[in-house]
Amino acid sequence: MTVLFISGSPSAGSRTGRLVDHLAGRLDRPATVLRLRDLPAEPLLHGDVTHPELARAARLVRAAEVIVVATPIYKAAYTGLLKSFLDVLPQGAFTGKSVVPIATGGTVAHLLAVDYALRPVLSVLGARHVTRGLFVLDTQIEPLAEELLPRIDALLEEVPLAEVA
Ligand SMILES: Cc1cc2nc3c(=O)[nH]c(=O)nc-3n(C[C@H](O)[C@H](O)[C@H](O)COP(=O)(O)O)c2cc1C
Repeated sequence: MTVLFISGSPSAGSRTGRLVDHLAGRLDRPATVLRLRDLPAEPLLHGDVTHPELARAARLVRAAEVIVVATPIYKAAYTGLLKSFLDVLPQGAFTGKSVVPIATGGTVAHLLAVDYALRPVLSVLGARHVTRGLFVLDTQIEPLAEELLPRIDALLEEVPLAEVA
């Protein structure tokens, strides 16, 4: 089972990125982490899918059977960086894949953004199965709040990722 984590934060020292690293570390198998902030901005914004780094990122998506899409909530939705990336993927890029939506945010007021903003775009890309979402407050990430562990493990077990570590 090939697992790809996509981190949609543009920030250096991203808390979403740290959460992703933690989740990847809980799996009993290697997983690839794609940090969208590392992609070249101009080809991304211009939709230049021939750029080698964008082509490589698209190959990682194609090869993955499970994709964990993690984004900070910015202005009550997922980030523009994540949208830019999803926009350059081909139609149906998530077809046949299980997708796990995850968001971090500063206030629980926006926890439903996982469902009203992120989930529809994952479905439109053809995801076979979009799991329950996970919303994590930024204050719960560093250090990772103990109470999150059962929620994280329950979520990971919802997709065919085999045993968590
Ligand atoms: C530009 C910007 C907009 C934000 N807007 C929201 C928001 O609307 N709702 C919310 O809950 N948190 C908001 N936040 C807080 C971030 O979602 C939160 O701190 C997140 O964990 C940051 O993740 P990162 O460090 O990976 O970028 C915002 C942060 C920034 C920088």
